[in-house]
Amino acid sequence: MRIGFLSDLHRDRWYLADPADLLAEIAHEKRLDYLVLSGDTAPGADAALDFCRRLDAAMPAKLRIVAGNHDIYVPDIKGRTPAQIRAESAAFYTRITYESDYSLLLHPIVTPRWFITGLGGWYDYSFAPGYPQVDLDRISRARAARWFWSDNRRVRGGCFDYRIDVARVEEDIRTLRAVLTSSAAAGRRKCAVTHMLPTRALAHSIPLPGYGGILPLLGSERYRDLYEELGVSLCICGHTHFPLRRRIGEVCYANVSLPPLPLRRHPFSPKREMMRIMLILEG
Ligand SMILES: [Fe+2]
Repeated sequence: MRIGFLSDLHRDRWYLADPADLLAEIAHEKRLDYLVLSGDTAPGADAALDFCRRLDAAMPAKLRIVAGNHDIYVPDIKGRTPAQIRAESAAFYTRITYESDYSLLLHPIVTPRWFITGLGGWYDYSFAPGYPQVDLDRISRARAARWFWSDNRRVRGGCFDYRIDVARVEEDIRTLRAVLTSSAAAGRRKCAVTHMLPTRALAHSIPLPGYGGILPLLGSERYRDLYEELGVSLCICGHTHFPLRRRIGEVCYANVSLPPLPLRRHPFSPKREMMRIMLILEG
């Protein structure tokens, strides 16, 4: 069984080639049985699921996904109230995570050796320097979060309440705990997939003004705590566009997000770049 993992295709940012065609070629050439996309496929669930249907039809491998923050963006927020934006974004998350045939949470990959599950994940500001001795309300309302981060406009509808974010991560932890301790997972190595970072140790330090304000929006340390507690072997994530792999204690982490064009090793060959970043698990 061969399973490929890749993240952050951002379909809307491709102008020359359709990544669905390229991915289908890769799945064929690499003899993948499954392809897992860990989020930020396209803006909004309609576009993301439409892309998934085209990809699914074009390749022999089965497709599994988790929801990235862009996948639950409300594309057209004009004329919508904050409450409508929040409700629509929440409905997008539900469609991808709890209703789609491609949902990795609903349809985990089970091989003789591996149990692979996951969900999009969120952030709870636990990456903030000094956490937990920090003012979560202040950090969640920082300028970077308010004005620069599109999640504010397209997921929250401009409404700030850090408690909603924290509750969201806590619900994820309950869900992941239930799935990872299910009978199907027993006796198998566990792999957990999120879009968000499961630990701050995977965030690059970038000497950019304002980066300190973005860092708390990249994920949650709670995922790492859970993985260590439950003996998860492999954790896949994306979101940052800085791919990397590292081992922390007994847990292997892989960020499989495609880098932005200026940082690509193969800027003129998106297919080669995708093959470079993709992690292929045999099991
Ligand atoms: Fe993202």
